[in-house]
Amino acid sequence: MDVEDILKQAESLVFAKTGKQLEHLQKTVLKGTLQGQTYPEIAKENGFSESHVKNVGHELWHTLSSALGEKVTKSKFKSVFKSLRITSQRSNSNNFSPAEISGICHTNPTINNINIFTDQERSPAPAQTSPDTPTEPQINLDDAPAIFTCYSRTTELNTLEHWIVQDRCRIVELLGISGIGKTALSLRLIDQIKSNFDYIIYQTLCFSPTLETTLTNLLENFGKPAEIPQQIESKISQLLKYLRQHRCLIILDDVQMLFSPGKLAGEYQASLENYPLFFKRIAEIEHSSCFLLITAEQLQEFTQLKKGDHAVRSLVLGGLGIAAKEILKQYELSDEDQWEKLINLYQGNPLWLEMTAMMIQDLFAGNVADFLEYKSLIICDALKAAIQRQWQRLTPQEQAILIQFTALDAPVSLPQLGQKLNLADSDLLNGVKSLRRRLFLEHIQREKQRLFQLNPVYQQYLKEQNPEICERS
Ligand SMILES: Nc1ncnc2c1ncn2[C@@H]1O[C@H](COP(=O)(O)OP(=O)(O)O)[C@@H](O)[C@H]1O
Ligand SMILES: [Mg+2]
Repeated sequence: MDVEDILKQAESLVFAKTGKQLEHLQKTVLKGTLQGQTYPEIAKENGFSESHVKNVGHELWHTLSSALGEKVTKSKFKSVFKSLRITSQRSNSNNFSPAEISGICHTNPTINNINIFTDQERSPAPAQTSPDTPTEPQINLDDAPAIFTCYSRTTELNTLEHWIVQDRCRIVELLGISGIGKTALSLRLIDQIKSNFDYIIYQTLCFSPTLETTLTNLLENFGKPAEIPQQIESKISQLLKYLRQHRCLIILDDVQMLFSPGKLAGEYQASLENYPLFFKRIAEIEHSSCFLLITAEQLQEFTQLKKGDHAVRSLVLGGLGIAAKEILKQYELSDEDQWEKLINLYQGNPLWLEMTAMMIQDLFAGNVADFLEYKSLIICDALKAAIQRQWQRLTPQEQAILIQFTALDAPVSLPQLGQKLNLADSDLLNGVKSLRRRLFLEHIQREKQRLFQLNPVYQQYLKEQNPEICERS
């Protein structure tokens, strides 16, 4: 491998580890090191202070060491990389393929934000960059979970790619119940479509930040903090200017945390009511960027925005299906012929399956058949706590409606439900609508009738919380 090859491989590894491209000075340090230069020589030649160059170097060796699972220092860098037996005679790429990264790194098969379980190796489309934008995308994943896996999901990834890259949607909503894999999917999507963007920014709203804070955080990716205006209107205008100038993918995760607990789904907290206005402007104004809004509760304003055909789409993420077997494999469970049953019981929800698999491993030595001997659906304590947090967000009317479903073993129509409840008609209808937006209730169509049913995992949770209702029925 020559200097350029080594640089490219180091760059791929750093990207796999951090989700970020190498900066100019980092490349200079690597190049200088390969050419046998000392830190003072690199610093002098490139007009930086010695200490700054040293710091950049130390950080790089640290990142490369953890990516490779082997200690890399300035003096060992060249020899470590030369000794990597990389099958480098590939036709069209000098970079590590995901599988190679997994082979080289002696760690878990998920390398930070880059998922290596691709369904097939892709050759990314050439970057479309405007003349005044960087040639490599600037990717900021500081806010994203460091480790995740994402098996399967080819159809969903292709749909999102189509909407975002080809159709140039300005807002895409990714909706799904907690634990279904929204965050994992979005991070996997970045890997698939990054070459089409100048900037990719992931930000979570899990601490319910004000719109001002979110705008400031976003603007920091484009310029110096001192250049960020004070007024919220000017912040929005400046962001819109960047969204027009560059093609950006901005992922805002956990949008449901902007909504009020104890109120119907999708009602913004009082201090956060300017978000829907902001989203409306993003949808309506011409620009070449996309906001991917990830949420466990449907955004109310979406119906209006979609009606206006503002390049707004929504994808509801369902269970993982039998691809979830890969998750069970990680937990070394036995009785593979029973796995499909287990997956169906827990609705193919990756988080619910992970929690349950942990319990099976712990209490049944991984024996799935023994676990399935239990007649009722088992809700482990971790899952109970997760559902409890969602339950606390519901209105008292929604809770009353759901409790009625506890004793039902068949789907019901709205009039049937109304007969069982002492609720005003509008409370019943708004409650059911809200529960649909939270994906607690599913509907089925039987001839002309629309029937509603509760997700069986939530139903079992409620049965355990309200044993008296089940006894009465
Ligand atoms: N496609 C997938 N393959 C494997 N594991 C997954 C997949 N999707 C999600 N997971 C795992 O399930 C858990 C929940 O996923 P996450 O993306 O955080 O869900 P959400 O954002 O919808 O709440 C995580 O541990 C994640 O690694
Ligand atoms: Mg998430």
